Amino acid sequence: MIKSLFLSFLFFASVSVFAQKNNVAEMLIPEPVSVTSGTGNFILKPNTNIHVITSNADAKRVGKFISEKLKRATGYNVPVVVTSKKLAGINLSLTKDASLGDEGYHLNVTPSEISISANKPAGLFYGIQTLYQLFPKEINDSAVAKNVKWNVPVCKVTDYPRFGWRGMMLDVSRHFFTKKQVEEFIDQMVLYKFNLLHLHLTDDEGWRIEIKGLPRLTEVGSRRVNKVGYFGTFAPPKPDEPLDYGGYYTQDDIREIVKYAMDRFVNILPEIDVPGHSLAAVVSYPDLSCTPGADKYRVRSGEPIMDWSHGQPPIALVDNTLCPANPKVYEFLDKVMTQVAELFPFPYIHCGGDECPKNFWEKSPEIQALMKKEGLTTMDQVQSYFEKRLEKIVESKGKKFMGWDEILQGGLAPSAAVMSWRGMAGGIEAAKMKHDVVMSPTTYAYLDYMNGDPIIEPHVYATLRLKKAYEFEPVPDSIDPKYILGGQANLWTEQIYNMRHLEYMIWPRAMAIAEDVWTPKAKKNWDDFSDRVQKQFPRLDEAHIKYAPSIYDPIFEVSKDDSGQLKITLSTEIKGLDIHYSFDNSFPDNYYPTYTSPLTPPEDAVMLKVVTYKGDKKMGRMICMPISELKKRADGKGGDDE
Ligand code: ACM
Repeated sequence: MIKSLFLSFLFFASVSVFAQKNNVAEMLIPEPVSVTSGTGNFILKPNTNIHVITSNADAKRVGKFISEKLKRATGYNVPVVVTSKKLAGINLSLTKDASLGDEGYHLNVTPSEISISANKPAGLFYGIQTLYQLFPKEINDSAVAKNVKWNVPVCKVTDYPRFGWRGMMLDVSRHFFTKKQVEEFIDQMVLYKFNLLHLHLTDDEGWRIEIKGLPRLTEVGSRRVNKVGYFGTFAPPKPDEPLDYGGYYTQDDIREIVKYAMDRFVNILPEIDVPGHSLAAVVSYPDLSCTPGADKYRVRSGEPIMDWSHGQPPIALVDNTLCPANPKVYEFLDKVMTQVAELFPFPYIHCGGDECPKNFWEKSPEIQALMKKEGLTTMDQVQSYFEKRLEKIVESKGKKFMGWDEILQGGLAPSAAVMSWRGMAGGIEAAKMKHDVVMSPTTYAYLDYMNGDPIIEPHVYATLRLKKAYEFEPVPDSIDPKYILGGQANLWTEQIYNMRHLEYMIWPRAMAIAEDVWTPKAKKNWDDFSDRVQKQFPRLDEAHIKYAPSIYDPIFEVSKDDSGQLKITLSTEIKGLDIHYSFDNSFPDNYYPTYTSPLTPPEDAVMLKVVTYKGDKKMGRMICMPISELKKRADGKGGDDE
């Protein structure tokens, strides 16, 4: 009797446990094309094997990746075994399913097995990224996690990306990131299924790639004075200051990075930014400049070298351009492109072209002579002449030419692909001319911008909130989508001095961009995404990856009424937060007044302090906002130029 009672208890207990349907969709970023949740779990055990049901070496490597990750976190052996059929455990197999394309996959989890199938190993790789997000967060631990039940919820996922170009740009010129750090960046990108790393290898602040036969590029061009503070405002370096900051990748380093990336199905797009942004090259080889006295220039250490007050193009204070009228420049570029083409297997080379000042060209007799000879009437045409010659050089190396949208000005080179950054307009124009386009507009995809309010974020000249990044739609209505290769997030590093802050700047906004370029447009939903983002945070914590908590901080809007009274409106990016505030200089908590409607500060108040809570849990950071700052903002002066 006791036994039968116990059995019936077990039965009901198991029914009530197992009857609960999983909600797998809420665990995943980017959201897959199709998810069906089941009930129950696959449980990884000490004797679970990974079966690779193909002799394909890339598929075996994917098996090894998941084995290593599971082994590290669980302490189990989890060996990779090549088998001829699926068995209980984890199965990776290649299939033929036209709907999946080159990067899609099916993931099927039952209580006894996990099966991932794909047309290509890249699809298996994305399948395992999805699978990682279904394991408990401790899967991201770097050491064996104790007392974890390694459950994976029963489900079926079918998934493939919306775009083939899912990029992130890393500027390694302004601040240098080592080979190991670049590899860590790649490791983080692939967690959310990015497949392209654009390396911005050269700029005014450093030349970061070894070019044989041009040793000064790295001996001289990769070094500058080390300065810390608000980059762009530093005092000019003194002649005797040591050049104690720098670094570059040897060609062996580049080969290793490329291999590391390709092993993880990431292509690397190299960028050599010319003819502007070329001070490091000019300092190395002053002959490349049109301007007498360029031999006195220094690699920029963060002092002002441009006057932006007139908009684009900037007025240069030192001539940071290569001279389009100088035959030596094309010989130089031929040498550089030959080696870049050999080092990077990706079909494109990005040749920059952005923000090229023309004021020194205007004064150059060589440029005047070139204009006369070539029938050029404007400086934009001079740049276009340069870009067209450079396109020919790049194509002579078997590569395709790409540049920032400024290369449209003065006439686009015949086969150039355009990366649209000053909004979408350049991309639209190029696509209408039947040129390939990658969209990476500042408006949605510049991850160097502040995550939130300048009162609390490290200062940059603009803000890009997570919600805005999530609104990125790479295909504008007016154009044929076939010209849009995809989208890209860009991380300029003037204000990024170390890897931890780099992480803070990319996460979680890169999750939004990942979903923008992977997930079907019709499935995107901000409220749903913002819930899923918050579920990723503990996973990032476990992986020791820093991220911005800015979505928990309130948004300040301020205006003045007719009588000059401030009206302060507070809101939050995500749902479910209460905002508590004080005007009396004390630190508010959840016992303080809750914001419900616009505030007017008491006459003598000097500070508004705010903090967000979810119930009794503090979520946001304490923000101390001077009333004087709010007054400036109401007058259109403070804050940022968002
Ligand atoms: C750019 O942001 N200057 C391409």
